[in-house]
Amino acid sequence: MRIIKARDYDEVSRKAANIIFSVMTEKPDCVLGLATGSSPVGIYKELVRRYEEGDLDFSKVTTVNLDEYKGLDREDPQSYAYYMRENLFSHVNIRSEKTFLPDGREADSQKACEAYNQILRQAGRQDIQLLGIGHDGHIGFNEPADHFPKETHCVDLAESTIEANARFFESREQVPTQAYTMGIQNIMAAKQILMVANGKGKAKILKEAFQGPITPQIPASILQLHPNVILVADEEALSEMESC
Ligand code: F6R
Repeated sequence: MRIIKARDYDEVSRKAANIIFSVMTEKPDCVLGLATGSSPVGIYKELVRRYEEGDLDFSKVTTVNLDEYKGLDREDPQSYAYYMRENLFSHVNIRSEKTFLPDGREADSQKACEAYNQILRQAGRQDIQLLGIGHDGHIGFNEPADHFPKETHCVDLAESTIEANARFFESREQVPTQAYTMGIQNIMAAKQILMVANGKGKAKILKEAFQGPITPQIPASILQLHPNVILVADEEALSEMESC
């Protein structure tokens, strides 16, 4: 694993965007695995800026997102589909039919997950998969469990995840309790993994995930087995990791 240290959120965003920039430049028809949450917002801003300056072309790019809340329509401002349009898709020349997320409107979990697995197979391996990390070590919405779920599945969100995500909703009660998420195998299939993390709040879990035992109780720890992981994090997030 390579670790890139940055001073603050803006520098994390610029450095991470540079990595995505080089993947897109080398392979204009690349498959980008994308994430939502607060960590990637600055990266998307930076990619939009580079696009507006004429340095990036999204016309041949395919995107697959990690996850979506079950029960939210894509027009719902809290849905990840909406977030992706707001933060990236509507600002660049990506073709909407090449942007994929699990279908939060599909009430039949098995149907929704099979459909997304099929989409992932058709898209092919992600050239790069962007990840944030939850305080409990979740990646995508793969919460601590007794095994590593392989493919897209429906999860009951952990209390701590609902708490953490309540900041994006008017009240805690509005946070959906379930989500569809890529499985660990879907994530590990990516040719390259780019994780970003900011702030003191992520310091303990980063240490556990990358310098502790590999266990499904800390889903991100599986990344220790991936041959090509880059972690871009600020000094606070790296403060508990040894030799950083
Ligand atoms: C989002 C996702 C989550 C977040 C994680 C960290 O698509 O899959 O795993 O990456 O919850 O969220 P932030 O970046 O808000 O700290």
